[in-house]
Amino acid sequence: MNKEDKGELEIKSETDLIRVRRLLREITHNMGFRTTDITRIITAASELVRNTVDYAGKGMMNWYIISTDNKEGIKIIFTDNGPGIPDIEKAMEPGFSTSNCLGMGLSGTKKLMDEMEIKSEVGKGTTVIIKKWLKS
Ligand SMILES: Nc1ncnc2c1ncn2[C@@H]1O[C@H](COP(=O)(O)OP(=O)(O)OP(=O)(O)O)[C@@H](O)[C@H]1O
Ligand SMILES: [Mg+2]
Repeated sequence: MNKEDKGELEIKSETDLIRVRRLLREITHNMGFRTTDITRIITAASELVRNTVDYAGKGMMNWYIISTDNKEGIKIIFTDNGPGIPDIEKAMEPGFSTSNCLGMGLSGTKKLMDEMEIKSEVGKGTTVIIKKWLKS
């Protein structure tokens, strides 16, 4: 198979949402994801794009088609060099927000994806890794 299996996209402003959504829709559709899962992935990624722009100003999105012996999936990594998250557990709680927003971005993202991991260091930045597996 000769399909493109990774890529990256710079996130500099909210207008990059359109590019991210278009790109992820194409990749996940080509991978064979169903519409419901495509919507979940795009919704989750959109929240992480917004967080990148809102809290760090800018960042990167890297995507990879990943596989194990019996399954294929997509991994999307958001990295930024923003202020970082002092208490990740708290930030993951539904309703927690430092910006007077709904505080549903991270908790919602976790529900929509199969796997989610956050690494962050105050003053250095944040990395959020999400994965979705194709159901065979
Ligand atoms: N990339 C990031 N860098 C620094 N802080 C972050 C980052 N992403 C999230 N946070 C922190 O985690 C909190 C929770 O994020 P979450 O996306 O769940 O909610 P929100 O952005 O405040 O509101 P909503 O997404 O519902 O509009 C944020 O208020 C912010 O303090
Ligand atoms: Mg948010």
